[in-house]
Amino acid sequence: MGRLQGKTAIITGGARGMGAATSRLFVAEGANVVIADILDEEGQALASELGEAALFQHHDVSSEESWQAVLEATVARFGGVQVLVNNAGVLMFKSILDTSKADYERVLGINLVGTFLGVKTIARHMVETGVAGSIVNISSVDGMKGCNALSAYASSKWGVRGLTQVAAMEFGHRGIRVNSVHPGGVNTVMSNPFEQPKDQIDKAYRDIPLQRISEPEEVARVSLFLASDDASYVTGEEVKVDGGLLIGRYYDTLPGAPDKG
Ligand SMILES: NC(=O)c1ccc[n+]([C@@H]2O[C@H](COP(=O)([O-])OP(=O)(O)OC[C@H]3O[C@@H](n4cnc5c(N)ncnc54)[C@H](O)[C@@H]3O)[C@@H](O)[C@H]2O)c1
Repeated sequence: MGRLQGKTAIITGGARGMGAATSRLFVAEGANVVIADILDEEGQALASELGEAALFQHHDVSSEESWQAVLEATVARFGGVQVLVNNAGVLMFKSILDTSKADYERVLGINLVGTFLGVKTIARHMVETGVAGSIVNISSVDGMKGCNALSAYASSKWGVRGLTQVAAMEFGHRGIRVNSVHPGGVNTVMSNPFEQPKDQIDKAYRDIPLQRISEPEEVARVSLFLASDDASYVTGEEVKVDGGLLIGRYYDTLPGAPDKG
């Protein structure tokens, strides 16, 4: 039996990248999946590939009305929802001095407000229907450290981390677990926009312990664990999936570094 047998999951940003990998894995593990994204063509194609267990729903996470529509479509097709993966996100590289208020609000509106609206809409439904659910919020290593050029993105991901802790408190006693996932580099359009070969991309990761970028499936498997009953006593957790990036980078000249023995 699949690890998500009998469960229905909404996956935002599910049309491509990590969201698509998560949608495929969840269906393989027995779930029904609602692929909720602004990318209609990619989302429809993935839903067709996955068959009866999948539904594509056009969805802009920054809109409260859109969240209501996703919930209604999910309940109409699958009868309810037990899992939410707040995965949709956008990245922007700009220095603080070059970031306009509109730039900043756009990134926060999708990454943080979108996650807040998802938690609010779906947790409310879970509470009203007495569902013991799981919410997985995709943050980032940039929600745990600083990085130049990422004021809006890092603020949004730190916000997702904080929101996750609050939600874990408010919904834990109602049977809903809420956790955050903190990927490092993932080989998707976001981190590899020019689709360079993996060995080229890996060069930029030579100074982290696992010395490579991750594949989206490697993050999806962690979301699967948190979504499933295997994680029945895990809430408010922050799971790094970063190849060791946050513990440190090698100093080439010192012993213990790669090639230094
Ligand atoms: N790629 C990385 O290196 C990396 C690292 C850490 C965290 N993340 C996070 O992982 C998540 C998935 O990113 P990815 O790497 O798959 O990138 P991606 O760009 O391939 O996918 C992002 C998805 O979000 C969707 N999206 C964007 N705005 C939306 C909106 N307003 N409403 C609904 N959907 C919207 C996009 O259409 C796309 O399908 C993001 O939250 C990202 O911040 C990615």
